[in-house]
Amino acid sequence: MSDDPDSDADGELEARLEEQDAFDPPESFVEQANVRDEEIYETFEEEWPECWEQAADLLSWDSEYDTVLEDDDEPFYEWFTGGELNASANCLDRHVEDGAKNRAAIQWEGELGETRTYTYGELLNEVEAFAASLRDLGVEEDDVVTLYMPMIPELPIAMLACARIGAPHSVVFAGFSADALATRMNAAESEYLVTCDGYYRRGDALNHKEKADKGLRGVDHDVTSVVVDRLGDELTHFLGSNAHDYGDLVEEHAGASVEPVSRDAEDMLFLMYTSGTTGEPKGVKHTTGGYLSYAAWTSHAVLDIKPEDTYWCAADIGWITGHSYIVYGPLALGTTTMMYEGTPDYPERDRLWEIIERNRVDIFYTAPTAIRSFMKWGEQFPAEHDLSSLRLLGTVGEPINPRAWKWYYTHIGNEECPIVDTWWQTETGGMMITTLPALTTMKPGTAGPPLPGIDAQVVDAAGQEVEAGKAGYVTVNKPWPGMLRTLYNNDDRFLEEYWQEYSDPDSDEWVYFPEDGAKIDDDGYITILGRVDDVINVSGHRLGTMEIESAVVGVSGVAEAAVVGGDHDVKGEAVYTYVILEDGQEATESMRERIVESVEDGIGPIARPESVVFTPELPKTRSGKIMRRLLEDIASGNDLGDTSTLRNPEVVDEIAGHVDDE
Ligand code: PRX
Repeated sequence: MSDDPDSDADGELEARLEEQDAFDPPESFVEQANVRDEEIYETFEEEWPECWEQAADLLSWDSEYDTVLEDDDEPFYEWFTGGELNASANCLDRHVEDGAKNRAAIQWEGELGETRTYTYGELLNEVEAFAASLRDLGVEEDDVVTLYMPMIPELPIAMLACARIGAPHSVVFAGFSADALATRMNAAESEYLVTCDGYYRRGDALNHKEKADKGLRGVDHDVTSVVVDRLGDELTHFLGSNAHDYGDLVEEHAGASVEPVSRDAEDMLFLMYTSGTTGEPKGVKHTTGGYLSYAAWTSHAVLDIKPEDTYWCAADIGWITGHSYIVYGPLALGTTTMMYEGTPDYPERDRLWEIIERNRVDIFYTAPTAIRSFMKWGEQFPAEHDLSSLRLLGTVGEPINPRAWKWYYTHIGNEECPIVDTWWQTETGGMMITTLPALTTMKPGTAGPPLPGIDAQVVDAAGQEVEAGKAGYVTVNKPWPGMLRTLYNNDDRFLEEYWQEYSDPDSDEWVYFPEDGAKIDDDGYITILGRVDDVINVSGHRLGTMEIESAVVGVSGVAEAAVVGGDHDVKGEAVYTYVILEDGQEATESMRERIVESVEDGIGPIARPESVVFTPELPKTRSGKIMRRLLEDIASGNDLGDTSTLRNPEVVDEIAGHVDDE
């Protein structure tokens, strides 16, 4: 026992929290919440699908829709058919017209500390200038424009400029490699690229343009590109023959007035490539009416966003979280959305808390992997700052363990902020399973019940609902407005990936399968257990093991490879690579380096293997299939159980020995 009364108090608090497994939202939050009507779950069930008009009502439509849900050609659902609208007009013009032209729309902070504020009026001007520039460069309605940029304001500006002229964007995460950029541009047949010279990471200027140029060399058609000058004199802002300077373009088009194009509700707003079971990334197609309504509705109901808030989602716009909850949802609601360029520990480990204090942030949304890092760094960093402006906290991207949840609740939320643990996917467009912050009790570690209007359940392999406590798979029985409409140019793969497993087309039963394992408790709360396909979740980033494997086997001298996810304290999962070399090849340090380099070149540094294990054989079933589960257990240090059914059980101990050596 320590003599320090404070530390006693801390100890008591820890002990109390450890035992507590349910938390009710604070009264002060409930009183002011956007959604307070307890009947909402029932009403949405009774009035489905018309309940979704509430989401559509958050937007301004150029022409009213005739039908809420069109389900003639299942599972190719259509929402709000006959309606017309423009996403950029919904995110900008209508707020400016409503008198909010001087309210901050984007509050940006660079890693070196510089800040930029765009009011709604200024943002509209810049979006119009860039929309006019894109048109001048030849971009027409329905042309796919690829955006390969880090967290700089020009990224949302370019997204909104594309939306304004009806050109779908395809954002490629800036951390992805040149090869990944080329694959996505080829798949989308995208002839336009907006990129930048570089950006800052831990104080260093990174050369992004070089990577973009290398990617362009792998694109099989001509590309017109625009380059944003982020770094000024730090890097030579070299432009190729088909490249234009962003600054020159917007200056030339300053003051331009670009009418927002009325888009059909079902017209594509954007494409987002994500990882799946095979090596080819999937082009998830989202629409203008359904997606935007759903992003706005969930931002309103779950994140409790109000126009006067300063709201911060600390994700990257290169992922779906940033699309829905940095750009489209918050701006559709007319709030102030924050953007931060850099890392959370630069220059110090209190960077995020300092930003929250200085900007008086009301709502903060981040990933469990970040929370686990904050925990590791220690509570003294948030304790140095006044975080009392916070009203609501959120998490997304991977399961959050109860200890991290409670740390977040106590040290960031001061036990005064509800936490929403939001389960969803690139494909769902917006949140699907989470508590509503003013209405539902929170249980740390459990995402919560499905949102009103979302018919999700946990089933066994035969599609029967499992008993409380038993593990099964998440499925969704009814469509929702934010859902993907198809995989770009690949309806067959759309059907195979999401609808084949549990649907029964003969009896017209269509069931969406997200490929996540889960369990459900007696109160209907769903705990997500993780992916059940060959997708792994590293620091909340979704990666396909097959894509990584193909980068590994691309190294000369490698005969075979298996890539799996193993448990990791901070990242959630990490990449484990098992490699068989060709006869005569040596397992040298330089071979290891070449493998790691090839993964970084093929996908990006986020996919960097935690460990490369050389082995003479991989554990295989008698029919010759690699036992991936076993490799995952070895990587995670789990009990391996019975391995006697393997064709080559002796190899298991040998591999496990190598992993321990790593
Ligand atoms: O496994 C689930 C996990 O992230 C996957 C979706 O990844 P992505 O499409 O990149 O979208 C991430 C951001 C929405 C899901 O299949 N996942 C997402 N949120 C949670 C989660 N796992 C547990 N709890 C969550 N809250």
